[in-house]
Amino acid sequence: MIPAISAEHISKRFGKLQALSDVSLRIEQGEFFGLLGPNGAGKTTLISILAGLSKADSGLATVMGADVQLDFMKSRRMLGVVPQELVFDPFFTVRETLRFQSGYFGVRNNDDWIDEIMVHLDLTSKANSNMRSLSGGMKRRVLVAQALVHRPPVIVLDEPTAGVDVELRQSLWKFISRLNQDGHTIVLTTHYLEEAEALCQRIAMLKQGKLVALDTTSNLLERHRALQKNTGHEPDLEEVFMQIMSDQSGAIKNTPPIGKS
Ligand SMILES: Nc1ncnc2c1ncn2[C@@H]1O[C@H](COP(=O)(O)OP(=O)(O)OP(=O)(O)O)[C@@H](O)[C@H]1O
Ligand SMILES: [Mg+2]
Repeated sequence: MIPAISAEHISKRFGKLQALSDVSLRIEQGEFFGLLGPNGAGKTTLISILAGLSKADSGLATVMGADVQLDFMKSRRMLGVVPQELVFDPFFTVRETLRFQSGYFGVRNNDDWIDEIMVHLDLTSKANSNMRSLSGGMKRRVLVAQALVHRPPVIVLDEPTAGVDVELRQSLWKFISRLNQDGHTIVLTTHYLEEAEALCQRIAMLKQGKLVALDTTSNLLERHRALQKNTGHEPDLEEVFMQIMSDQSGAIKNTPPIGKS
């Protein structure tokens, strides 16, 4: 099967800063995948490369088999990205914003799907409100909706729950999990590690632009459990994360560099 996302030996430099160093990973169709790492690790840079917004210095990236550089239109149509930054046009209403976004992808008569998305994200009552009048959390809901209007098979959410209240987080995860059950591939970055632990089947961790872990969530927890035999409590993903980040060697432990374990 064609991978949902494939990154092979991706490197990216900003001046003297090596933002990504030889990152390789493969995400299969239908996975719920977590991309984790501390601030500045390179998560958003990798997502920008996958979305064709930024060009890798070297390496190859594809979305559903389409090269993000050579076949930009196709790869971009396959991808829905919820950006980390709140970007919006203040002059349009929520519904207009979603209609325009559909138009960018050449999708016409999309109001039924737009209505359904707004229901799931609890945006219906704001459909005719101007974007500038929305609170931060509401704007973030619109960003999520925008990523979904063209029904992309692969959905990447870059910190979708930053600044979002508990209620929306729960309804958002329910909606995203349903999309995943319907066959959509989900890639999530978050600093809420309990969310990643509960939702993601497999996790990659970046540290200073390098891939330092790539494994199933259960294997990561299991390996940590084996290392910490005598603590008397079950490890959680936060402990695993802290341990991997404090490891000075920078090498991936017991995990294949590419693909599923
Ligand atoms: N356009 C740019 N110009 C210069 N440096 C950049 C640019 N974009 C990102 N960087 C740098 O590249 C590194 C990786 O940034 P990136 O935004 O990918 O991190 P991140 O893992 O998404 O972090 P966060 O968790 O804070 O969102 C950082 O050191 C950042 O300052
Ligand atoms: Mg980021």
